[in-house]
Amino acid sequence: MKNIFTDRRQKLGKIFPSNSAIVISGASTQYRNADSSYAFRQDSNFWYLSGFNEAESTLVILINDSGNTESIAFVPEKDKVKEIWDGHRAGPKGAIDDYGFDAAFNNTEIDMHLPGLLSGSKQVFYPVGKNSALDKNIVKWLKAAKSKDRHSSSIDIADASSKLGNMRLIKDKHEIELMKKACLISAETHVEAMKFVKPGISEQEMEAYYLYEFAKKGGRFSAYTPIVAGGENACILHYVENSKRLNDGDLLLVDAGCEYESYASDITRTFPISGKFNKSQLAIYEIVLEANLKCIEAVTLNNNVMDVQIISEKVITQGLIDLGILNGSLEDLHSSGAHKVFYMHKIGHWLGLDVHDAGDYMEDGEFMKFKPGMVTTIEPGIYIPSSSNVEDKWKGIGVRIEDDILVTSEGNENLTSSVPSNPKEIEELMA
Ligand code: GLY
Ligand code: MN
Ligand code: MN
Repeated sequence: MKNIFTDRRQKLGKIFPSNSAIVISGASTQYRNADSSYAFRQDSNFWYLSGFNEAESTLVILINDSGNTESIAFVPEKDKVKEIWDGHRAGPKGAIDDYGFDAAFNNTEIDMHLPGLLSGSKQVFYPVGKNSALDKNIVKWLKAAKSKDRHSSSIDIADASSKLGNMRLIKDKHEIELMKKACLISAETHVEAMKFVKPGISEQEMEAYYLYEFAKKGGRFSAYTPIVAGGENACILHYVENSKRLNDGDLLLVDAGCEYESYASDITRTFPISGKFNKSQLAIYEIVLEANLKCIEAVTLNNNVMDVQIISEKVITQGLIDLGILNGSLEDLHSSGAHKVFYMHKIGHWLGLDVHDAGDYMEDGEFMKFKPGMVTTIEPGIYIPSSSNVEDKWKGIGVRIEDDILVTSEGNENLTSSVPSNPKEIEELMA
């Protein structure tokens, strides 16, 4: 049986050394209170390599001395009663027949099999420090492997995170399709939300509107808790309380993106609750928009993340000088990091199965150049809480504009460009 997941597992033989083993544990069920569970979300590495969506599963991939791989899965056992309560389980036979694993066992048998499976390897790779149960189990299994044969050579433990992350960093065709769909659902929803908003409704009603529209369009889950921040709440970067009323005359910052078949989208738009920006809001907005557009243009194969970061800092610093919010020369203010009072986060992050996706930002001690198949967010912002030492007219304004950018061999494709960011277009849409 061949599919994208078996292909990815085979590719590991080219990425990891021969005579090694890779162990990836799936996610466990998480509880919100007592025995009331959250909807299950598989661990992203596990999903990427298996497409198998049952909790409490583990995947072992052995790479032999010629770089060929063998995949062994440990999955929940078939159980008629549990399946009545919680749904279908593939069981070991279904895991082999339907998911293409070379072997599969009940997860209750993992301690029995793992020492033997690992004992022939020189190295065992796993995502170190991500799951404390796996950290402990790896040591336990290696000790057991060693005690089986005192004369065996030692097995080194190594972190799989960087190698797997860098594989996930370059999206394949299938992933790009899914991410385009996630971005489209989120983009359409942002456009509809701009038409829907009105003074007096609450942030939580807006949040519910986004979640409803995502689900209706096929993206049942949000890729992260939406930030729905009216007025000055936009200056709290991770504002997820979403509980206040929206006031006429304020801006609304919404950072919301759905997940589609486990792939994230991540969009922020900031728009006037009344449908019209006032002069101060527009002045700040125009700076952030210029940073957003210039940074997107710079997402090309010749540049790296730090090049784009610096563009955003310089555009924002110059804009704040022009408005009299910062005083001094661009060079001096930029080198002293004066912008950090108003723009304190990074320009973006990799996007994929995780909203802050796996993958290194540095390569051989330098920032990694953009490569075709990467997806990065571009999300400059300016935040001026009312405690700031500025003229009153700027106080309480917070703006961020965030798009999702696919790197291509020709340059890039903005996957979220269908939501307007131009203030005139936003006002027309909201009229
Ligand atoms: N929504 C999370 C972020 O923008 O990083
Ligand atoms: Mn983001
Ligand atoms: Mn975001």
